[in-house]
Amino acid sequence: MPNAKSEQDVMEKIVSLCKRRGFIFQSSEIYGGLNSCWDYGPLGSELKRNVKEAWWNAVVRDREDVVGIDASILMHPRVWEASGHVAGFTDPLVDCKVCKKRFRADHVADAKRCPECGGELTEARQFNLMFKTFMGPVEDAAAVVYMRPETAQGIFVNFENVMASARLKPPFGIAQIGKSFRNEITPGNFIFRTREFEQMEIEYFVKPGTDETWFEHWKAERFRWYTDLGIRAGKLRMRPHEAHELAHYAKACVDVEYEFPFGWSELEGVANRTDFDLKRHTEYSGKALEYFDTQTRERYVPYVIEPSAGVDRSLLTFLVAAFEEVVTEKGETERFLRLHPKLAPIKVAVFPLVNKAGMPELARKVFDSMKKRFHCFYDDGGAIGRRYRRQDEAGTPYCVTVDGQSLEDNTVTVRYRDSREQPRVAIPDLAPFVAEKLEGAKSSVV
Ligand code: GAP
Repeated sequence: MPNAKSEQDVMEKIVSLCKRRGFIFQSSEIYGGLNSCWDYGPLGSELKRNVKEAWWNAVVRDREDVVGIDASILMHPRVWEASGHVAGFTDPLVDCKVCKKRFRADHVADAKRCPECGGELTEARQFNLMFKTFMGPVEDAAAVVYMRPETAQGIFVNFENVMASARLKPPFGIAQIGKSFRNEITPGNFIFRTREFEQMEIEYFVKPGTDETWFEHWKAERFRWYTDLGIRAGKLRMRPHEAHELAHYAKACVDVEYEFPFGWSELEGVANRTDFDLKRHTEYSGKALEYFDTQTRERYVPYVIEPSAGVDRSLLTFLVAAFEEVVTEKGETERFLRLHPKLAPIKVAVFPLVNKAGMPELARKVFDSMKKRFHCFYDDGGAIGRRYRRQDEAGTPYCVTVDGQSLEDNTVTVRYRDSREQPRVAIPDLAPFVAEKLEGAKSSVV
């Protein structure tokens, strides 16, 4: 049984480290913050870019059958009628008659009693999660547009454009990374559930009848992506949806879940969306969205397998998995982010051992030559031990120090964050040395 207090402590420590080191800040903090909105700081924005790049490389660049797009957030309002979101993208909402707080009916243990004050709850009513706004200067019903609640629809409406321009035939996929918005009733757990978030989605179009094989393929691929980036397999599980949980478009869905300090929770869904979306857009737009094979004269509406992940949730998973606190023999507390080197915001920190005797000049030269290839950080402030500690907390895998010997033999020490080994490397070999390490890196995240 996890100890609730210490598990909560872990989250508090991670939130505090994120603020202290510049990963994540509360949005509009100087005005008291805006509930469930967060800003990524200097290290957080680098980490986020690395998460997205790792995903894009794995699902687009490393494959020949998936291409990317970047669709607009605002789309024609008919899109959301066709997709079913206007009618059915709702959560059951209940209000407490006493303290007036609101909850998702399926998130409270007792459907009649307020979990906060014990007051009586109202009957559940359906609440649509889409954010509405107006296009143009007139705020009337004809001008209503929605902030997209998923990136997927930007892919479906471009199915024909992409298939024709990229000369693709099923099986093929279209990938997209971008912001989505949901007016969640109960956001929470730091960046886990927010109202503005980023998704990484693939719609993979296949010939009907082959969908179940491709469903298995994507389940395995997506599980492997997390473990390749250092998440321990024992902390991940694939949870098939029960029939009552399935979205209106899905024939089957499996959630990739991670064991967070607040319990097992969904990181990503892999769904078999059948031909639902293409057929609905055909019906609502009047444009036939289908595949026609000019050689075999075969015509069909492809089925879709959809791996749909959250950028912010993946990032939170990598942070939680990487966080470690160690109390030294001297009773000092040291904190580490044992991030996979590919994800680490700073790859290499460069230090002069002391600020004299030609060391800063040589360290600057090393920094200037390395920064062209890797995201590097130069630090000459404070004792060397403290500089190492700061980089351990930032998740930096390699710290390069220029010392007295460097001036004699043109070598530096490279300190590894995880093993703390410090081999000496010749300065001209440093960039290939780090590149090779990053390429073959296996994280020590457990
Ligand atoms: N197109 C399918 C779709 O959007 P979903 O299960 O609703 O499916 C997919 O969302 C992923 O998007 C989730 O697994 C999660 O990682 C992320 N996500 C969804 N709602 C979120 C929220 N309110 N805050 C942060 N991430 C969210």
